[in-house]
Amino acid sequence: MKIKNHIFPENNCAYYNDEMGVLLYQTDCIDFMQSLLEMYPEGIFDMIFADPPYFLSNGGTTCHSGKRVSVDKGDWDKCSDIQQVHDFNLKWLSLCQKLLKPDGTIWVTGTNHVIYSVGFAMQQLGMKILNDITWEKPNPPPNLSCRYFTHSTETIIWAGKNEKTRHRFNYDEMKQLNHGKQMKTVWTIPAPNGNEKEFGKHPTQKPIQLLDRIVLSCTLKGDWVFDPFSGSSTTGISCIKLNRYFVGCEIKKEFIQLSLKRLDAFINHKKSNLDLFEGYIHEKRG
Ligand SMILES: C[S@@+](CC[C@H](N)C(=O)[O-])C[C@H]1O[C@@H](n2cnc3c(N)ncnc32)[C@H](O)[C@@H]1O
Repeated sequence: MKIKNHIFPENNCAYYNDEMGVLLYQTDCIDFMQSLLEMYPEGIFDMIFADPPYFLSNGGTTCHSGKRVSVDKGDWDKCSDIQQVHDFNLKWLSLCQKLLKPDGTIWVTGTNHVIYSVGFAMQQLGMKILNDITWEKPNPPPNLSCRYFTHSTETIIWAGKNEKTRHRFNYDEMKQLNHGKQMKTVWTIPAPNGNEKEFGKHPTQKPIQLLDRIVLSCTLKGDWVFDPFSGSSTTGISCIKLNRYFVGCEIKKEFIQLSLKRLDAFINHKKSNLDLFEGYIHEKRG
């Protein structure tokens, strides 16, 4: 299958839009990355954003709308063996590393359940850690047990493919976004609002504003972005908005269906309001 002059696998493709440069696969990301690597052994992506399973759906509880509810995000989020979790993180991260172009960068978000393993795996693989961002959620659910501080942050690690990576950073763009001051590593951004969930809910959906900042900070128009754990395809929406090309993988059918609705609606919105999207154009890489 050819899209924006690049060939991609036909198998398991759930969504395809050549005009916008969007591809979504319903498959295990490990299998997908292995087949893509056979086609692009030198790498193909300028940026990867990954929001992997947190592995916290193991019988705990949290607070939702003032009530104690079980933390059960689904089968994809269950695993109690930390070595198994780390082996999984090493596996998908090493495939992501190979699929990055030499100057490409990867962003991985997570809570304490997974982020230390991710950071250690990155170090084991020889990636170049560039920053760790603290994403602060201004309205977190209260801590019902009153025996811990209220959890209100996630860590997002930004890393280059390896020590030789000459990463891109759109410094001026970030400064402008931060009202003329250097952008710091603490980002206060609310969780997704009702509008972002109009087509249904994903239990760990990320805000579009968060992905916009990430994509804007280190890519150019026409760059290729990959998300191995796409969920509701927030990364895809951001790429369409900012004129970058998107490839995503999601294993669960219900989240693919949610993604299709979101992607279609956003593409229609963009087509009927093209002038709103002109400002996001940077020069393409040479
Ligand atoms: C933390 S969520 C990502 C949410 C996403 N960032 C969003 O904004 O909607 C992780 C997603 O990865 C999917 N997933 C888990 N294991 C996978 C695998 N091996 N391959 C592809 N997707 C997987 C889950 O079904 C889940 O939707």
